[in-house]
Amino acid sequence: MYTTSVNPFYAARTSRVATTRPAAEPLYVKLPRAPANASPVPHLTSLYHFSEPGDYGRRDYPGNCGGNLIRDLLRYFRPTTVLDPMTGSGTCRDVCRELAVHCWSSDLHEGVDACSPGAFPREAFDFCWLHPPYWRQKLYTDDPRDLSRTPTLDAFLNRYRQLIGNCAEALAPGGRVAVLMGDYCDREAGFVPLVYHTKRLAFDAGLRQCCTDIIRFSHGASSSRKVYRSAFIPGLHDVCMVFEKPHARSQHERPA
Ligand SMILES: C[S@@+](CC[C@H](N)C(=O)[O-])C[C@H]1O[C@@H](n2cnc3c(N)ncnc32)[C@H](O)[C@@H]1O
Repeated sequence: MYTTSVNPFYAARTSRVATTRPAAEPLYVKLPRAPANASPVPHLTSLYHFSEPGDYGRRDYPGNCGGNLIRDLLRYFRPTTVLDPMTGSGTCRDVCRELAVHCWSSDLHEGVDACSPGAFPREAFDFCWLHPPYWRQKLYTDDPRDLSRTPTLDAFLNRYRQLIGNCAEALAPGGRVAVLMGDYCDREAGFVPLVYHTKRLAFDAGLRQCCTDIIRFSHGASSSRKVYRSAFIPGLHDVCMVFEKPHARSQHERPA
């Protein structure tokens, strides 16, 4: 079961005037044109702006991410085995089912701690979809092993390092992990650049980034309907980063 408690750490700009405002007219912006290329998913570019979540997972699950981006990534990278270690409401699992791709799907609320060493079989997957908590922006379970319950940023980053290491270990050489993460403004710690930390930890785990960042527009975020008294620059996106596990270098390639 997931928790519904109010999060005391979210810097909700406490001087909110009203909790909601009426829905505004959509704002249309002109996007740059993507170059024609041989991609099997031509609409998958660095700007993921589609507002339809797709019929995957449960939209009322906290932190639900919609499945269309996952589906497009799987159609682009064409994996045969997928690891989904923080499945939440099962969004990635549902996409895999639709595409007939084998999926290992688990979550702490099913008893599997993705941050525990050796949580997954080694080198068994060629793709991993990883959508962790954005530290304590949202609280998920009451379990102290929950990443969203880590009491300090350092504690979060230590467990996040273990999580990324576990995913790297579970990938076969040449496999990829796509991480969806957003920066977060915390009441105590201030602005926390979690996208930066994700890259740092992935590189430390021996992964390398294999394509552009994908900026996912946050359509339907509950915060966009609120009114605040204080001034700030609203974050309207999160970032999907795709990393690759290099093939071990053969003896011939090793420097003398
Ligand atoms: C951002 S949500 C994922 C939502 C999912 N993408 C969806 O669309 O429903 C993060 C998930 O991580 C899970 N989680 C937190 N700490 C965990 C841990 N140590 N091991 C496994 N899952 C964990 C939470 O229970 C939550 O379901």
